Amino acid sequence: MCSFVCTLRFLYLLQLLVAGTPAEEPVRDPEMCVIPRDVQVDLSHQHLVQVPPGLPRDTQYLDLSYNTISQLRGTDLATLAELCVLRITHNGLRTLSPSAFQGSPKVQVLNISFNALTTIPDLALPVLRVLDMSENLYESYSLGESFENLQSLYFLALGSPNVGAVKASDFAPLRTAPLKTLQLGSRAEMEGYEAGSFAQLSQLREVTLKMIFCQKPEIFQVILQDLNSTKAECLTLITFLPDLCNVSSHLFEGLRGMRHLRNLTFQDTWFNSSVLTKMLRNIIQSPIQVWSFFNITFAQDTSDGISIQRIPGFNKTASSVKAIIFDTIHFHQYKFPLISFNSSFFSQVVYLKFSSTGMSIMPCFKLPSALQVVDLSDNLLRGRGLWWMNCSFVQKFPNLKGLYLRNNKFEDLQFVINHIIPLKGLDVLDLSSNSIKLTGRGSWPSNLTSVSLSENSLGDTIFDYLSPHFQSLNLSQTGITTLTQNALSQLTSLRRLFLSSNMIKCLPTDLFYPRLEELHVDRNSISSFNSKTFEGLQGLKRFKAGHNPFACNCDLYWFVTSFNKTLLPDWPSDYTCFSPPDLAGIPLAKYQPGRVYCDPRIQVAISLMIALTAAVVLGFAFHACDGAWYLQMLWVWLRVKRRGCKEASRLREASFHYHAFISYSHHDSLWVDTQLVPTLEGTGLSLCIHERDFVPGYWVLDNIINCVEGSYKTLFVLSQSFIQRSS
Ligand SMILES: *[C@@H]1O[C@H](CO)[C@@H](O)[C@H](O)[C@H]1NC(C)=O
Ligand SMILES: *[C@@H]1O[C@H](CO)[C@@H](O)[C@H](O)[C@H]1NC(C)=O
Ligand SMILES: *[C@@H]1O[C@H](CO)[C@@H](O)[C@H](O)[C@H]1NC(C)=O
Ligand SMILES: *[C@@H]1O[C@H](CO)[C@@H](O)[C@H](O)[C@H]1NC(C)=O
Ligand SMILES: *[C@@H]1O[C@H](CO)[C@@H](O)[C@H](O)[C@H]1NC(C)=O
Ligand SMILES: *[C@@H]1O[C@H](CO)[C@@H](O)[C@H](O)[C@H]1NC(C)=O
Ligand SMILES: *[C@@H]1O[C@H](CO)[C@@H](O)[C@H](O)[C@H]1NC(C)=O
Ligand SMILES: *[C@@H]1O[C@H](CO)[C@@H](O)[C@H](O)[C@H]1NC(C)=O
Ligand SMILES: *[C@@H]1O[C@H](CO)[C@@H](O)[C@H](O)[C@H]1NC(C)=O
Ligand SMILES: *[C@@H]1O[C@H](CO)[C@@H](O)[C@H](O)[C@H]1NC(C)=O
Ligand SMILES: *[C@@H]1O[C@H](CO)[C@@H](O)[C@H](O)[C@H]1NC(C)=O
Ligand SMILES: *[C@@H]1O[C@H](CO)[C@@H](O)[C@H](O)[C@H]1NC(C)=O
Repeated sequence: MCSFVCTLRFLYLLQLLVAGTPAEEPVRDPEMCVIPRDVQVDLSHQHLVQVPPGLPRDTQYLDLSYNTISQLRGTDLATLAELCVLRITHNGLRTLSPSAFQGSPKVQVLNISFNALTTIPDLALPVLRVLDMSENLYESYSLGESFENLQSLYFLALGSPNVGAVKASDFAPLRTAPLKTLQLGSRAEMEGYEAGSFAQLSQLREVTLKMIFCQKPEIFQVILQDLNSTKAECLTLITFLPDLCNVSSHLFEGLRGMRHLRNLTFQDTWFNSSVLTKMLRNIIQSPIQVWSFFNITFAQDTSDGISIQRIPGFNKTASSVKAIIFDTIHFHQYKFPLISFNSSFFSQVVYLKFSSTGMSIMPCFKLPSALQVVDLSDNLLRGRGLWWMNCSFVQKFPNLKGLYLRNNKFEDLQFVINHIIPLKGLDVLDLSSNSIKLTGRGSWPSNLTSVSLSENSLGDTIFDYLSPHFQSLNLSQTGITTLTQNALSQLTSLRRLFLSSNMIKCLPTDLFYPRLEELHVDRNSISSFNSKTFEGLQGLKRFKAGHNPFACNCDLYWFVTSFNKTLLPDWPSDYTCFSPPDLAGIPLAKYQPGRVYCDPRIQVAISLMIALTAAVVLGFAFHACDGAWYLQMLWVWLRVKRRGCKEASRLREASFHYHAFISYSHHDSLWVDTQLVPTLEGTGLSLCIHERDFVPGYWVLDNIINCVEGSYKTLFVLSQSFIQRSS
């Protein structure tokens, strides 16, 4: 585990440092370069044949992996003075000019693994800290003199299938470097090792050897002695033994004396039961605390399988081992191995992982009572495969705190609950990705506070089967469609609730759950949030809700503008509009409908203002343009029209006072009075003339209307002065 874990942790750190934290924030590490997003350039998978010219001068992170750049020339990086991290892996890189880094002296991390370099290049990089040159094609591990200048180097990976021997002079240039981690080899058979090669690297703590130790097992002893002298703590052995090998019975003896070694890991290795037994007998006597086995193939070549009862000369009551990890075991014979051992050797084991082994029935060992965590994920266990009748071992774990049964074949929830009740101290139970059915309401152990039932087909009824003691509950991907206050009200202790990847359409507005600190509802069918939902969730510290089909309309406006985004770990990257169609795909953070558009109060205020302004303008225009007169005229016209309509039908029967009403300008009155009227009345017509026939006291307009109505015809005297007066 050790070196592997160390490496993993390191790589993780490196990833954090480099490729980027998920958030927008720049990468921060007090010791390494701080790389904000905008100075990272990723040109991987671009079919490049050379480093493209014209890269931004402030580039600090450059990834050119998975291209076909075959050489790195002196001028390629000349302008990148700020470069801190450079990755050119999987390129078929053959040569690297000694002057390649002259213009970029600040490089701290250089990864040129998985290429075709035929010699280890000289590197003039004074602040280089991490160098990965593994999986290349050089003929020796001899480091040039330029490595003497790498006084910050603490991680080095070298490996070529063409090299089987290590000489003391190879690593001499790094004698004064603070090298802590070394990964060496590329699956070649180890042919020679000069004693002291590693010992000169006095700070070496974590070593990974990807080498085969079949033909010359004595080399392994010499290496162990060297690592013992540097006080190495982690050792990982990859492809240690191939399938066909006459394994020396002394191969593992050196492990016993490794005073400082804490973590030992085997990976991609073949173990016959005879060999594994020998190995275990040795490491039981060593101070190693963590034993890890990843991807090993097991073959049974002894009749009693793995059998360790007594170890002559070992007179301690227990070994130092605290954690045993088996992850991915291939069984060569397609049958489960015979295992028997003296359980007192393992009485200090607190962590046991046995996953990806194809196991369907748990062997009935007397397992150590100190066990705190048992991880049996990724097997084929059913209820009776783990808790079978004649084996009561699980009930003997007074200290068990965590039981991980992810990705097995458990079905009956009631059965599981009944069998964990004796585990009084159990705090964490992971039953995710099984085939759990809700069969009956068992009562959960009261100390059990953290449960995952995710990736089971459960549905909304699951809320009736839960314990009020749960503090953390993972119900992701369980087919839940609705969430109600009622369902949650039973879970009185709940702090963290994970409901990702369900089909919830909305969050209830009457939620009252001030204890809840973390809620995940990402990947559901939620289109909008109501602010009322959060009024009852005062204690909420993290709220993950990305990847929902958000409807970008005013209902979501307050969420975009007012919701405290520090609660959202996945904001803004995972939030996009789903509807309306013209906004689909737009990041929610970019949806800016504007306050006016969405705030009804502002809308009312603005409408009022517009109305008022219009009124004032109109009023002014009214006053200025004799509006009153026009209004009167309009009134008159309307009345005439109305009366006209009413009377039209009766026109024929109507009787008229006058034959005609005469309308004229008073300029023409002389002509009208002296000529027109006498002439017309002379022929017997009766006329209405306002000077003579208007009823005194009536409004002139009414008089006119009455006259017009009382007359069969209206006669206009159209003269110059009539038109002028009218216009
Ligand atoms: C050894 O492995 C354990 C368990 O994986 C890990 O926690 C620990 O950090 C490792 N020890 C060192 C020195 O890295
Ligand atoms: C270098 O790159 C390779 C390929 O991507 C990767 O597997 C390896 O972990 C990297 N090395 C370091 C030290 O990050
Ligand atoms: C395992 O045992 C088989 C049969 O005894 C043998 O041929 C093979 O070399 C052994 N391999 C290892 C790695 O022990
Ligand atoms: C193992 O040893 C036997 C005889 O001792 C020999 O015949 C066989 O070739 C050896 N196998 C290997 C892989 O060295
Ligand atoms: C490892 O080093 C210690 C001193 O640190 C020494 O006592 C022990 O014998 C060494 N073991 C081996 C196998 O050399
Ligand atoms: C597991 O180990 C075998 C060799 O024993 C190797 O061929 C295979 O690629 C390894 N698998 C993984 C996933 O590393
Ligand atoms: C246990 O072994 C040590 C040496 O490894 C020896 O000094 C001591 O006497 C032994 N004790 C018993 C009880 O055998
Ligand atoms: C188991 O190991 C302990 C300590 O090494 C020893 O005292 C005991 O006799 C062993 N038990 C058996 C059955 O061999
Ligand atoms: C349990 O043990 C008893 C006697 O020890 C035996 O008769 C019975 O068949 C066993 N049951 C199972 C399921 O192994
Ligand atoms: C149950 O939890 C309580 C409080 O955390 C603790 O004091 C108690 O020891 C636990 N019970 C067991 C059997 O571990
Ligand atoms: C909840 O379960 C899902 C699915 O198994 C998993 O991906 C997720 O990491 C879990 N969440 C937490 C917080 O453990
Ligand atoms: C947002 O939430 C964080 C964390 O809960 C809190 O520290 C901060 O004061 C809140 N900001 C606002 C504006 O409410």
